[in-house]
Amino acid sequence: MDTDARAKKSVQVYSSRTMLAVYDFYVTYFNNRFAWNCPREKLVSHYRRHVTDEHLEVGVVSTYYLQRALPASRLKNLQLMDLNPDCLSKAADQLKHCQPKPIQHNVLHPFEGSAEPVTSIGINYVLHVVPGQFPQKGVAFSHLKHLLRPGGVLFGSTLLSIGVKRNLFGSLLMKAFNRMGIFNNSDDGLDGLRTALAQNFRHYRIEVQGAAALFSASDEALS
Ligand SMILES: C[S@@+](CC[C@H](N)C(=O)[O-])C[C@H]1O[C@@H](n2cnc3c(N)ncnc32)[C@H](O)[C@@H]1O
Repeated sequence: MDTDARAKKSVQVYSSRTMLAVYDFYVTYFNNRFAWNCPREKLVSHYRRHVTDEHLEVGVVSTYYLQRALPASRLKNLQLMDLNPDCLSKAADQLKHCQPKPIQHNVLHPFEGSAEPVTSIGINYVLHVVPGQFPQKGVAFSHLKHLLRPGGVLFGSTLLSIGVKRNLFGSLLMKAFNRMGIFNNSDDGLDGLRTALAQNFRHYRIEVQGAAALFSASDEALS
């Protein structure tokens, strides 16, 4: 199966009505706390620190963190990007008061459509789903970077298999999701993430929390 087919397969799970309905409880609350040991409050704080009024959110089956990090009144120039059209319509509907611009796009490819440059890009829990190892999936950073205004920040987090502490439940669940093709992170480690960020940004920061690596990156010094 080629990379595009694997990328499409990995996002199919988010088209199921059940998954769309239970995602915020099952993934955002339950798995974060009990499998990955990265409570959702930690990710909300990460968003609060970096999100700006001109924002592009990538991977939008959930916009939980975004909605808690900035009041709707400040989400005026919001763009949403996802490979899966069902995730895009759900998010666009949830955030219709902000009139977001939906963009269907695979982050493994350069973006050639029209998008407004932004001062922040959130890419949370997307890279562990994307096929390939960091040298391949890391191209997402270079493609997205072109959409950032000078000095803008790209931030998010990803679940790793190597270089982080996983409990038994998290370890077994991650293996099962990789076997099912829902995750593609068996070979993902801290060194790979570090290299991918360093290749694309002058400054970056990584913080490990449980099985998750929270990152932020910019060409200007990070606050
Ligand atoms: C695990 S969910 C993460 C959702 C949310 N950001 C969160 O933090 O819970 C992964 C999201 O990324 C999207 N996605 C996965 N691979 C993608 C790709 N190659 N290009 C664009 N979006 C992708 C999926 O459709 C889904 O909405």
